[in-house]
Amino acid sequence: MNITYNEQNRVFKLDTAHTSYCIGIVDEENFVGHIYYGRKLEEDNLAYLMRTAEAPFVPSQNNRDRTSFLDTFPMEYTGNGLGDYRESTLAVRTMGGHSGVSLSYVSHRIYDGKDELPGLPATFGQKAECKTLEITCEDQALQLQVILSYSIFADSDAVARSVRIVNQAKEPVYLTKVLSACIDMDQEDYEMITLHGSWARERIIQTRPVMKGKQSVSSVRGESSHQEHPFMAWKKKTTTEESGEIYAMNFVYSGNFLAQIEADQFGSMRAVMGIHPQDFIWKLEPGGSFQAPEVICVYSAEGIGGMTRTFHDLYRNHLIRGEYKDKKRPILINNWEATYFDFDTDKLLRIAKQASALGIEMLVMDDGWFGYRNDDNSSLGDWQVNENKIRGGLKYLVDEVNKLGMKFGIWVEPEMISPDSDLYRAHPDWAIAIPGRTGSLARNQYVLDLTRQEVRDCVYEMIAGVLRSANIEYVKWDMNRQLSDLGSYGLPADRQGELLHRQVLALYEMQDRMTKEFPNLLLENCSGGGARFDAGMLYYSPQIWCSDDADAIERLSIQAGTALIYPLSTMGAHVSDCPNHTVGRVTPFETRGYVALAGTFGYELDVTKIPEEDRNMIPQQTAMYHKYNDLVRTGDYYRIAHYADNRYYDCYEVVAKDRSEALITYIQVLGRPNFHSRRLHIPGLDPQAVYVIENAQDWPEIRQTEYRGDTLHHAGINIPPISGDFKGRLMHLVRKQA
Ligand code: DGJ
Repeated sequence: MNITYNEQNRVFKLDTAHTSYCIGIVDEENFVGHIYYGRKLEEDNLAYLMRTAEAPFVPSQNNRDRTSFLDTFPMEYTGNGLGDYRESTLAVRTMGGHSGVSLSYVSHRIYDGKDELPGLPATFGQKAECKTLEITCEDQALQLQVILSYSIFADSDAVARSVRIVNQAKEPVYLTKVLSACIDMDQEDYEMITLHGSWARERIIQTRPVMKGKQSVSSVRGESSHQEHPFMAWKKKTTTEESGEIYAMNFVYSGNFLAQIEADQFGSMRAVMGIHPQDFIWKLEPGGSFQAPEVICVYSAEGIGGMTRTFHDLYRNHLIRGEYKDKKRPILINNWEATYFDFDTDKLLRIAKQASALGIEMLVMDDGWFGYRNDDNSSLGDWQVNENKIRGGLKYLVDEVNKLGMKFGIWVEPEMISPDSDLYRAHPDWAIAIPGRTGSLARNQYVLDLTRQEVRDCVYEMIAGVLRSANIEYVKWDMNRQLSDLGSYGLPADRQGELLHRQVLALYEMQDRMTKEFPNLLLENCSGGGARFDAGMLYYSPQIWCSDDADAIERLSIQAGTALIYPLSTMGAHVSDCPNHTVGRVTPFETRGYVALAGTFGYELDVTKIPEEDRNMIPQQTAMYHKYNDLVRTGDYYRIAHYADNRYYDCYEVVAKDRSEALITYIQVLGRPNFHSRRLHIPGLDPQAVYVIENAQDWPEIRQTEYRGDTLHHAGINIPPISGDFKGRLMHLVRKQA
């Protein structure tokens, strides 16, 4: 890892182990231009690539055509309103009502380490682990400073980018758009990969050609959302899982976002990512600064899989924090699908007793334990234990669960308020709402205005009081509606446009406070399933509930899309009841276990009511979790086949970092008549080593049990047909001692 500045040619070069990123300063106006991002280069003078000599577009020699220059020059971060008509990254409105920003280089700083982003989640590293380049630019007319920050890591090929805006003028300025990163490059035959979905269908991979014009994904829902994801990648058409070039951007943020590629008239393209400008206006006082969230940029020449593994390692090593960062998580059983709102102390203890005997390690009490909540119509905001249900009180219940040798966890939804709650009756103005308008309800609830300190403090204290009252070791922090009716009774008129971002900052502040007060707590974020599964939330919680759809077959696509970016250690995945509550599908208990093993692993069913043969399988499943979780949590993930493409089967692999073992999960989604065995290529192994199928007894049809790593990769192995639908198998390969 190195960052250099060639003073003569005015070129910055950031080198990671396998990539180079080059930035140049050009012209007497000191524009900060983008030169190169890609495979690592030895050459540090790429100034010749800057398009400054393409008549008639050179501004200094031909000011007559300045807009032509601005509209084509590859910028690192772009102003607005002065002639660059492509998507801008920064836009302002002055007190005089004008727009127009242009940025010029002023100075730079290169330092060891990486500063925190105040109030925001961000990747981190010790001084020896990372380096940062800060380029300070300014718009002289506005007296606005823009600090572009780029951090690189010794053990990663990612570049972490962010932007800070400082108002040095004597009067306020309104920021109407502050995106976080921009990459200008030449168009090639690119395809764009994005993630799309809905409730119970989150993060489904979609690939489309990059066409002329703009193509984007975004959220204006106040959270990163079920529907689209703050991620995009663009790859050459020939790029596969294992080879070829790919670029990606992922946003370390949990609110509104825009991720867009624009292919322009001259064969260039601009990729941008940041907070969505819709409903965003930030008033920056003189001397004030605005910090935009971080974007992680990844380039890989090793295909989609190379990109994935770069994200996984970066997030495991430099984003996720806390007690459980590198630890196996307790196997939990959650009562949501077991009981919904219909539970009491006795029922929970019956479930816990049975579960503990089967090897389950934690009981999680989901929605419905507080206020007078027996359905989803009331009580959000009234965070007092309902002792009509939790008879004997919470401490009694937790102690009894602890006596069974289990931990205890609890569900909360701190950002919400039910109109039918004591809190709302006392403080109707604490809900986000537009005065004079009847607010839009969703799941019969409003969103609390957390931009107000008194609201944050009140809710935090109520919930922290519950956590302090008993030995609670896990919290599921839920969020079950999107934002609308954007109005705050706490903000002045000229700051209403700050509400959405301030709400996200408030959420981060509350989670920061909770994780600091309860450092040993395992926090799992959730949002009506997986509507806020993003890198921002991972800074506070090492795991996030992936989706309310826990059907094993649906989960194959949901988990494949999630694992495109996020490590398996972060994916909340449970074995749930059948017929599945979301799709009604019946799958073997065994298969549900295999699919949940790819995540944090747990149960979401009434263990006292499931068929005995399923219940009898739980000790084997929990043993399997203990056997494989270190590997699954820490290893390198490879997608081998996806049934969304082939329509029959799914297969993925996790290889230990030292390549001593690998676990392959094979799910035959649909049986196929009159078909011979399937040839699978197993990548990632040590080519020279010999591997043994350690669980050969599970594969009686495969007679040979030892293979070289390179044979498994290049020649592959024949997987015999399995009779039936939704069947699963694991293959555990272990390197043979030399
Ligand atoms: C949505 C979550 O995703 C579910 O797991 C459950 O906790 C419900 N909310 C409870 O209301």
